[in-house]
Amino acid sequence: MPIRSLDDFAFGKLEELDRACLRRTLAECRREGSPWVTHEGRRLLSFSCNDYLNLSHHPALKAAAMAAIGQYGVGAGASRLVTGNHPLFCELEARLAGLKGTEAACVFGSGYLANSGIIPVLAGAQDLILIDELAHACLWAGTKLSLAQTLVFRHNDVTHARSLLALNRAQFRHALLVTDGVFSMDGDLAPLHDLSQLCTSFNAWLMTDDAHGLGVIGGGRGSAFAAGPGTHVPLQMGTLSKAIGGYGGYLCASRPVIDLMKTRARTLIYSTALPPVMAAAAIAALTIIETEPELTAKPLAKARAFTSRLGLPEAQSPIVPLIVGEPELALQASNRLGEEGFLVAPIRPPTVPAGTARLRFAFTAMHPDEEIARLADAVRPLIAGTPARQERARETRKGM
Ligand SMILES: Cc1ncc(COP(=O)(O)O)c(C=O)c1O
Repeated sequence: MPIRSLDDFAFGKLEELDRACLRRTLAECRREGSPWVTHEGRRLLSFSCNDYLNLSHHPALKAAAMAAIGQYGVGAGASRLVTGNHPLFCELEARLAGLKGTEAACVFGSGYLANSGIIPVLAGAQDLILIDELAHACLWAGTKLSLAQTLVFRHNDVTHARSLLALNRAQFRHALLVTDGVFSMDGDLAPLHDLSQLCTSFNAWLMTDDAHGLGVIGGGRGSAFAAGPGTHVPLQMGTLSKAIGGYGGYLCASRPVIDLMKTRARTLIYSTALPPVMAAAAIAALTIIETEPELTAKPLAKARAFTSRLGLPEAQSPIVPLIVGEPELALQASNRLGEEGFLVAPIRPPTVPAGTARLRFAFTAMHPDEEIARLADAVRPLIAGTPARQERARETRKGM
């Protein structure tokens, strides 16, 4: 029997979201190996997939995955600490650590699970966490779970982070600074070289979420490498769900830190291991990333062709935002591009701060150049007035 107060609650919430143009619904979307998708029955060219290297349908990954399913089945059967620790995880961890230049790595069930598990292992009530105001939701989730004292620094503002550390560091046992390496909704890069020096000088630990960096910047090795020599990021977290084309998350770090994760991270201990098939596919993806530099360079080059054609600031990653302001404007802009045959999902609060709803373009290696040019022509009329909006959005953020 339905519980009236519960349904009334849900109904009221949905009405509120509808009024603010903030309700989200799930649309059916079929991807069959190219950036073209069937979305709600319409064939569209998608600029909203994070499959930057189009590896999710690569023949080598499919073959590795099918062989693994044939041999090992579809599920891990238990958490890694019980019977779910398939030997493929050990191989994958060695490959990830090799690519990221760390002693060791730990694979988690997803990127979200990784961040939710890693941060509470490293910081507790006696510790300080500094977090970029635009950090991804799962870095916030891990931070909240840790119960550490949390201070927010303005987006990419090293001077602000320094002043917060100078004022507060001495009162805490440990300090952890967490940031995206590539910001998922803005496409810009964290100033990791300067953050790494700052952390060294305050004995703070630097942790990056490199979900959108691996495979596409820094020669495929991610944001810590794009930041250049002298950058030391001891905690490099990431996901297997974007350029790697599959699913799963990981942390690359020193051997003691990884050993600690494997005995303390609750999302590793109390969650069933990733299906081994995902490890097999990820290993095949890493081989491609390590051996095909021309492929890993493509998504950024495509994004830059787009920004250059429109006179926008040069893309720093395969992600290009176009801030339009209010949620209904983002919906309208997305619909207009849909009429031109493009799928560009509108991004609205709370994923981004209020007043900064946007279109988010994600470029992949397989996007045809002529379609990028056509997209730019379709986007041009939407840009009128947006520089002022982008400026206002920056001001709003400063005041957050
Ligand atoms: C920056 C960032 N971190 C973490 C995640 C979560 O990764 P996963 O999809 O593997 O849970 C995402 C994905 O949306 C992301 O964009």
